Amino acid sequence: MTHEWWRDAVIYQVYVRSFADGDGDGVGDLPGVRSRLPYLATLGVDAVWLTPFYASPMADGGYDVADYRAVDPLFGSLSDAEGLIADAHALGLRVIVDIVPNHTSDRHEWFQAGLRDRYHFRTGEAIPNDWQSIFGGPAWSRTADGDWYLHLFAPEQPDLNWDNADVRAEFLDILRFWLDLGVDGFRVDVAHGMVKAAGLPDVGRLDQNAMLGTDPLPYFDQDGVHEIYRSWRQVLDSYPDDRMAVAEAWTPSTERTARYLRPDELHQAFNFHFLKADWAAAPLRTVIDDTLAAGAPATWVLSNHDVVRHVTRYGGGEVGRRRARAAAMLMLALPGSAYVYQGEELGLPEVLNLPDEVLADPVWERSGRTDRGRDGCRVPLPWTSTGPSLGFGPSRPWLPQPEAWAKLAVSEQETSPESMLSLYRAALRARRRLAFGEFAWEGAEPDVLAFRRGAFHCVVNLGESVVRMADPGPVLLASSYYGLEQGEVLLPPDTVLWWEA
Ligand code: NOJ
Repeated sequence: MTHEWWRDAVIYQVYVRSFADGDGDGVGDLPGVRSRLPYLATLGVDAVWLTPFYASPMADGGYDVADYRAVDPLFGSLSDAEGLIADAHALGLRVIVDIVPNHTSDRHEWFQAGLRDRYHFRTGEAIPNDWQSIFGGPAWSRTADGDWYLHLFAPEQPDLNWDNADVRAEFLDILRFWLDLGVDGFRVDVAHGMVKAAGLPDVGRLDQNAMLGTDPLPYFDQDGVHEIYRSWRQVLDSYPDDRMAVAEAWTPSTERTARYLRPDELHQAFNFHFLKADWAAAPLRTVIDDTLAAGAPATWVLSNHDVVRHVTRYGGGEVGRRRARAAAMLMLALPGSAYVYQGEELGLPEVLNLPDEVLADPVWERSGRTDRGRDGCRVPLPWTSTGPSLGFGPSRPWLPQPEAWAKLAVSEQETSPESMLSLYRAALRARRRLAFGEFAWEGAEPDVLAFRRGAFHCVVNLGESVVRMADPGPVLLASSYYGLEQGEVLLPPDTVLWWEA
């Protein structure tokens, strides 16, 4: 059997509006991404996932799509997309694009034309049920004629009705459109959302956001969704070269997530259970065990454009950075594929002090300005230590960068062997070279995770004190300094070692 490329690929997430600005309007775009592809090739990733760049009124950063076959002028043109795909392929990078099937923009021609069967419309005075929007407030709004429509996200993102045959046919066609253009795969937005429980039953409580990803909900992870993916898989399989799809599916368990990965469904799903695990040995060990036991292709992810950056989640400052270095080496040593979110290779922290007036995430207004939303992980990348946007583009960026980011710029880190960027490059280089064998835990004390994959070994000290271990011989890579004393290695807290024996 051939080994499909995605099984152990490292896939780099480009949040297009914050990666690189080619035309100087302060917003990242496809020409910007294209100009920085050599950086990604040098970093050593295998593929790039681009967040939505389709025609959109940008009520949710482009996750409100008005035309699935057009590039928004803010991000460039269709020929920019084609050029980007061609350049990426020439550099040996695959390209994955986002597809947003749970909802359209309210400016989509179907919603504009009042094609109600393709959405969830209800008439009557009373709100149809107690469902809550993920962005805050009820999941129902009224049109100008007083009818209700469902939107699990912003009111500008009406949910599609996947019982409608036209909706199903349209998305098969959209998949073909991008596959014909040469993309290698899709990241499926809200992949667990398209099918709703029959009759749209009440949840019975309003704090539904607290149930996300832990409890069953009538609008997420319904069994009927799997039939859709069986039809998508047929389309993907009708193209050469292992085209793939990765699900954004927040489910209550690794077992529920694995259902999206049955052989005739999708290829991967983000492992949010890993992302959500605390930085401690027991929860990480449980997630790793559950993931590998599920028998489905494994992925590992630490950050994305929807969550607080992990340097900050792990404690911020020096501690957060040190743990992030260790986490990267842990993630890249595990069997399966890994997702890297732009800027994590620079060790960027969450920006916690963005001024109110620049906040663009709909969560901020929808929550009645109680939740500042996700802009703090979407601040444009620093490429150089000077300039109006630290090299992001020729003008001021759409979100301000902290001054301290000058020191975190690519240009600064490239020349420093101890930087986070150098660590990612070294780890990715080693990962390419290593012939990983079968995964097996190795005996270790409770705060330590130690495993081997054939001749390759990885040890992670998640405790608070230095751990002594027998000197394994030449170390391939270390996340931080470690000591050597009388034939023993002294492994400090939050440190990872890789070696071959
Ligand atoms: C998940 C996306 O990652 C997020 O950014 C977006 O707001 C929602 N889906 C709605 O499309």
